[in-house]
Amino acid sequence: MATAQGVVPMRMKREEGSVSLDDLLRGVLTRLLAGQGRVALEKRVPELEGRFSQVEELGLYLHVPFCRQICPYCPYNKELFRPEVARGYVSAVKEEIDAYSALVGRRPVTSLYIGGGTPTTLVGCGLEEIVEHIFKAFNMRCEIHMESHPNDLGKENLRRIQSLGVKHLSMGVEALQERHLRRLERPYSVDEVKAAVERAVGAGFECVNVDVIFALPGQTLAEVEEAGRELVSLGVDQVAAYPLFTFPYTRMGRQAGAERDDNSGVFRRRKMLRVLEEIFYGAGYERTSVWAFTRRGVPRYCSVTVPLYLGLGASAGSYLEDVFFLNTFKVSEYISSLEKGRLPIALSVELSERMQMAGWLYWRIYETRFRKSAFRKRFGREFDSVFGRHLTPLSWFRLLHDDGEEVVLSDAGAYWLHVLEDLFSIDYVGKLWGGSQQEPWPERVVL
Ligand SMILES: C[S@@+](CC[C@H](N)C(=O)[O-])C[C@H]1O[C@@H](n2cnc3c(N)ncnc32)[C@H](O)[C@@H]1O
Ligand code: SF4
Repeated sequence: MATAQGVVPMRMKREEGSVSLDDLLRGVLTRLLAGQGRVALEKRVPELEGRFSQVEELGLYLHVPFCRQICPYCPYNKELFRPEVARGYVSAVKEEIDAYSALVGRRPVTSLYIGGGTPTTLVGCGLEEIVEHIFKAFNMRCEIHMESHPNDLGKENLRRIQSLGVKHLSMGVEALQERHLRRLERPYSVDEVKAAVERAVGAGFECVNVDVIFALPGQTLAEVEEAGRELVSLGVDQVAAYPLFTFPYTRMGRQAGAERDDNSGVFRRRKMLRVLEEIFYGAGYERTSVWAFTRRGVPRYCSVTVPLYLGLGASAGSYLEDVFFLNTFKVSEYISSLEKGRLPIALSVELSERMQMAGWLYWRIYETRFRKSAFRKRFGREFDSVFGRHLTPLSWFRLLHDDGEEVVLSDAGAYWLHVLEDLFSIDYVGKLWGGSQQEPWPERVVL
């Protein structure tokens, strides 16, 4: 899940009207990297004609905003699954695909990621129709990555998922101790979820990724270690281990204000991640993003792999060179817009070249390695002339290794630079997603 996520760092108790350390640092960093202090998204549908002409290859993201239950920690846009709403949603997504197909033309689509919510709620209930429509409308040159819920992974459903063309499957396991599963309100036992993992691993996908959350309230280092070892012995291809992020607009986020948890500190989380690093490196996995470890030789499971992407569905975001836009979050508004023949875009922002470069760097740091030639190819400028002076001190502190062409973050660098990135991402997600979940057509969101 490569949406903007992260730990909430160094959050200081904020007095009325005062500026927190986070705010201060965030302002300095945004100015330094992106050349401006604030970014404002406006209620405006951007002119799309001609926007795709510069795009060589495109990723597609499809959002399925339905779940069978709502988890208290989850920041994503979702609502309870209702078959009659899902039917309307499937038709609306097909309308949206049609609206974009002429604009995109025969440009190759080299990545399709189906996320949620819970995409598997639509298996046998319209997902097949959407995928078929996508393959007819666009020049598809890729396999499918999809998220799933362990309770939707019976043998028959796994067969259906494979016949959709899904080669890379991710499942939200979250924890492997009963007390943590209960606290997260996950609707299965440890034995049940382990059996689901075994079925998925045995089904013949190219990559099975398992999501787990660590630094749960009251979780011990021994429990983190036990979960890591268990996943290795279950034979999963990839593990995405996220620390518990607390978003103020979720049920858990509202409670967190009242309770203080020892596992929320950045040093404690680093210690837990180090336990996982040792286990996965020892078992032949390599780091493929800040939070993901992939078995060597296996193609990694990840969200959209192309820097430019088009989002379909409620709350899906799109990024095309110099513009970012976001669909309305509310499913009923999304459906009625498309029924009226209108694109469901709620907010957009034109991005200066400096902002695009800062965004590029943000995701490359998330992936923990990048080549400077990729920056040159995208922007026609030398990486070092734009960001070089920011990188040099980081190599002094061994947070990264720069051989002149490839930059690779060390384990410590991956963690600490991401803690810095979270100064932006947690706040941005809270404002943008939290705000958009309350108001389907906001006038303006300032990040
Ligand atoms: C869309 S969900 C996965 C698919 C499916 N809906 C499920 O829950 O099994 C994406 C993943 O994000 C992670 N996630 C969600 N909320 C989180 C939070 N507050 N902190 C850390 N990770 C979180 C979880 O690991 C979750 O599996
Ligand atoms: S964690 Fe998954 S199942 Fe739970 S609410 Fe979020 S998307 Fe839905």
